Amino acid sequence: MNIKSAAFVGSAVKSSQYPAEGLPEIAFAGRSNVGKSSLVNTLVGRKNLVKTSSTPGRTQTINFFLINDTLHFVDLPGYGYAKVSAEVRKNWGPMVERYLKTRESLCAAVVILDIRRTPNQADLDLVAWLIHYNIPQILVLTKADKLKRNKQARQRALIAQDMGKQASSLIAFSASTGLGKRELWKALDAVL
Ligand code: GTP
Ligand code: MG
Repeated sequence: MNIKSAAFVGSAVKSSQYPAEGLPEIAFAGRSNVGKSSLVNTLVGRKNLVKTSSTPGRTQTINFFLINDTLHFVDLPGYGYAKVSAEVRKNWGPMVERYLKTRESLCAAVVILDIRRTPNQADLDLVAWLIHYNIPQILVLTKADKLKRNKQARQRALIAQDMGKQASSLIAFSASTGLGKRELWKALDAVL
């Protein structure tokens, strides 16, 4: 997709704060600090559309972005970071679950994993949960620039096995080099 415009629409913690339903929507989910916000910036070719941080737990609200006036990208807060306040931790699950469960415009969730790590229980729970609610998922292995090519392939096979997926269905990605950007857009175009 040729990106002509990308703009922040708003943040939400509850459904009354979501923008109106209608435009097709893609959500980005994954562990805290895995690189969700960076991935969104890379996809739209804007360095600072979405705030990124080396401190985990930075994104704490559901953030909506309008792309080309025709679709929404939704940057979700990450899960599994122990140092966010108890309050935030308690609210994360319900906040994100409510969004994923009730949002009618949601076309697919991009599940983002770190290519260097095998999926943990929270990652597996998210995937199982998306299947349960019939939400199409696109699996992305990010930070691929951190591994040499042969190690990338090995990790891809291991992660695919853990998740019960075909290795070829996992997209290796890097916000640093742009690896996988085309392939991910192709997958997004297919669900949109
Ligand atoms: P939370 O919002 O806190 O859950 O984090 P996030 O998943 O949005 O991660 P974010 O995009 O803020 O990135 C976290 C850190 O990882 C930052 O220091 C990024 O620069 C770095 N990072 C993200 N993607 C990549 C990548 O593809 N390669 C490398 N080398 N670093 C990356
Ligand atoms: Mg973030």
